[in-house]
Amino acid sequence: MIELKDVSITYPGGAVGLHPTSLRFRQGEFTILLGSSGAGKSTLLRSLNFLNRPSAGSIDVEGIGRLGDRRSLHRHRRQTGMIFQGHQLIERLSALQNVLMGRLGYHSALRSLFPLARSEQRIALECLERVGLAHKALERVDRLSGGQQQRVGIARALAQRPKLMLADEPVASLDPATSQRVLSLLQTICREDGLATVISLHQVELAQAFADRVIALAHGRVIFDGQPDQLTPQLLDAIYNHAGHAPAPIAAPVPTFNLNSVGE
Ligand SMILES: Nc1ncnc2c1ncn2[C@@H]1O[C@H](COP(=O)(O)OP(=O)(O)O)[C@@H](O)[C@H]1O
Ligand SMILES: [Mg+2]
Repeated sequence: MIELKDVSITYPGGAVGLHPTSLRFRQGEFTILLGSSGAGKSTLLRSLNFLNRPSAGSIDVEGIGRLGDRRSLHRHRRQTGMIFQGHQLIERLSALQNVLMGRLGYHSALRSLFPLARSEQRIALECLERVGLAHKALERVDRLSGGQQQRVGIARALAQRPKLMLADEPVASLDPATSQRVLSLLQTICREDGLATVISLHQVELAQAFADRVIALAHGRVIFDGQPDQLTPQLLDAIYNHAGHAPAPIAAPVPTFNLNSVGE
């Protein structure tokens, strides 16, 4: 669905967020990014909708082609749902109004000044229904619980009718039980809709419970790409215990773990 070829990202000032990385994300695949703080999870995730523009390399999207000009970016971003850690809802608006924001990419700036049509409201309501919150449609989001707010965030992303779903630490501020429920809901929806999904998390147990594929990063490089049951204690040690040091040798060279690229 989306393919990175030798994408690297260097921040102004010279910090390298991502060393040259080639990856492909497929429709219907639920991918979780792991890595300690500063490993490059957000950098990689944000490159997938060009919030971080690659310093080198290229990104191709099925049905759109190479990302770069305004038109390709607009089309790609419209079909890319993004869920944030702090959900980034507008607190004084209702759940329904927040979800309607997800529809704005489909309308011109001028058109967006007017109330959105009934058909739009229907789409938004359907999305709230899918996350189990139709009954809260008219409630202000600041009156909802943290878990409910994140479900509104999911509904807003769904209202875009996305093909790609990105989430940067979507459950970081939720308790463990709520985190489980939110991830399970995301997984169900993404499976049903066949979305390519990429989520960064810091909880290994959640990755093991939900991911089809885990990509682990350290120091801006992919050090594991495979199925969650292939994550050995040694690998987890390499992922989490080398933060702050120069890239340390891991148990085996990277290509050994690059199981998802076999046959692609
Ligand atoms: N806006 C930025 N400006 C400069 N350096 C940045 C910026 N964002 C991230 N970095 C650096 O890029 C590296 C990767 O960061 P990030 O992708 O945020 O990691 P993670 O999400 O895994 O915690 C870190 O070394 C971080 O300091
Ligand atoms: Mg991050």
